[in-house]
Amino acid sequence: MTTDIDIKSLVRTIPDYPKPGIMFRDVITLFGHPSGFRASVEQLVAPFQDQRVESVAGIEARGFILGGAAADRMHCGFVPIRKKGKLPAKAIGQEYELEYGVDVIEVHEDALSPGEPVLLVDDLIATGGTAVAAVELLRQLKAEVVGAAFVIDLPDLGGRARLTELGVPCHTLMAFEGD
Ligand code: PRP
Ligand code: MG
Repeated sequence: MTTDIDIKSLVRTIPDYPKPGIMFRDVITLFGHPSGFRASVEQLVAPFQDQRVESVAGIEARGFILGGAAADRMHCGFVPIRKKGKLPAKAIGQEYELEYGVDVIEVHEDALSPGEPVLLVDDLIATGGTAVAAVELLRQLKAEVVGAAFVIDLPDLGGRARLTELGVPCHTLMAFEGD
């Protein structure tokens, strides 16, 4: 295990991006660090290693980077949850709210079997809008969402609490709060 590395210090903070007053947490710098990335993936899947998980579902785009690595580590298949219009076969979609307007994420309707245990992975949870929509999609497929794992939690925005209310155990590696 790569446990002695301070992964939080590898996340770059960019003040006033994408607009004044926002502290943007840039996980790409953590992904770019060899032992930082490995430690993140190890820690992300650790609570689920002894559970029955058959697939990891990752949310486009940054959730693909972590989700693919997590699936490999857990000896699972990978299921992409994509932004609207990107999947080639028949898909189901779920709307979620953005700051202005709505967006849609989709999953192939045959991506998972009823009862299949799946772990949801993304880089960050903020309002939880994206992750809640993803859970709704996975549940529409009648998959069993065993948990959700994120590197970064922004607890002031309440997403983790929303997922917990839905009965999804939520695992995060670090939190940034108070700004
Ligand atoms: C970001 C982040 C999460 C989501 C979290 O994705 O990667 O997926 O926002 O926000 P929420 O909890 O408020 O829904 P975004 O769609 O901005 O960009 P990406 O395609 O680069 O992952
Ligand atoms: Mg994203």
